[in-house]
Amino acid sequence: MRTQVAIIGGGPSGLLLAQLLHVRGIDSVVLERRTRAHVLSRIRAGVLEQGLMGLLDEAGVGERMHREGFPHDGTLIAYDDQMFRVDFTEHTGRHVMVYGQTEVTRDLYDAREKAGGAIEFNVDDVTVNDADTDRPYVTYRIGDAAKRLDCDFIAGCDGFHGVSRNAIPASVRREYEKVYPFGWLGILSETPPVNDELIYASSSRGFALCSMRNANLSRYYIQCSLSDSPGDWSDANFWDELKRRIPAEQAEALITGPSIEKSIAALRSFVTEPMRWGRLFLCGDAAHIVPPTGAKGLNTAASDVHYLYNALRQFYEEKDAEGIDRYSERALARVWKTERFSWWFSSLMHRYPDQSEFDIKMQRAEIEFLRSSPAAQAAMAQNYVGLPY
Ligand code: APR
Ligand code: PHB
Repeated sequence: MRTQVAIIGGGPSGLLLAQLLHVRGIDSVVLERRTRAHVLSRIRAGVLEQGLMGLLDEAGVGERMHREGFPHDGTLIAYDDQMFRVDFTEHTGRHVMVYGQTEVTRDLYDAREKAGGAIEFNVDDVTVNDADTDRPYVTYRIGDAAKRLDCDFIAGCDGFHGVSRNAIPASVRREYEKVYPFGWLGILSETPPVNDELIYASSSRGFALCSMRNANLSRYYIQCSLSDSPGDWSDANFWDELKRRIPAEQAEALITGPSIEKSIAALRSFVTEPMRWGRLFLCGDAAHIVPPTGAKGLNTAASDVHYLYNALRQFYEEKDAEGIDRYSERALARVWKTERFSWWFSSLMHRYPDQSEFDIKMQRAEIEFLRSSPAAQAAMAQNYVGLPY
């Protein structure tokens, strides 16, 4: 089989790239290790920057997001029993859209299916071949059948645990990592959100986040120990702990209910350089990971897709390799800025095991500065709604 762009990974990165290329008449094949149902069963954050909203519109899949999504003009920052608001629209003229990543992925799958897009599910033993030549190809297996996909380019959109990153020789690859000494215990509950806006809460007991998916589906997180497992936390214990970490007024307003999903995520910052090797291009979690504090995972995958899609369009339509040649440089420039914001916001809002009393005073002073300084709030708002592509 032959295509113009072989895309490894059928998550948000791979699907968005495939759909954008399709709109420009560029052919691709998506190779996905799991089934569509499995991919759509994953619970992920759902705060969309305007850049991603624009890409979904450009890909022709923005209609349900605009209809069912919730525009958010600001967010709430709580510390102990106090709370203040950072107004995105006041500082940037823009907002974010609360719309689950699962729904973004569902819309993209539906669009690919409607367009007759080629997606191979349940693929095994995916291998990148001859990426450092102008005739790369991907080999893989479906069941016992060995397959080969010849292509012009390979997009490694296969996430942190995929194979693409390691197709770049270790002698070429540089990796940067920070592992955080805590996790996030998250639950979904079919209850009304405690507030119309997200609440990021710092407390002496640890971080908490009050979020939502829709008017009757809430998403809550509390910082937890890496030695915890979801089974260690009954629903009652989770709700009690969440109430201890948010302002009393919010705790009193909180409507609890049975969890329909409960999981723990470890937090890390991670970046691979370069994001290109020959005809192989890394996109999204295959190249970088952020702690979820700033809701930048999906949005940084989207900016990679923006740069790669435009580079491929420039190559095929204008016979110009400038975008291809500068992809890694351009993508990484924005990746590192979102890594910084995600690290800063995590450092500001979480309790760290090795913190001294002085460190805690510094955290409190910075939250108070954020509360009192329009310039500090503008800087946070610019990062939260999304830096320019
Ligand atoms: N072969 C084929 N597919 C693979 C392979 C492989 N060897 N390894 C992984 N995959 C698939 C996974 O099953 C998954 O569907 O690649 C896809 C990668 O999707 P994500 O991990 O979601 O990464 P990405 O598309 O970059 O989206 C980033 O997703 O996980 C969240 O927090 C992350 O919000 C961010 C977003
Ligand atoms: C979520 O709704 O899952 C969510 C929202 C904002 C974040 C992280 C997660 O920063």
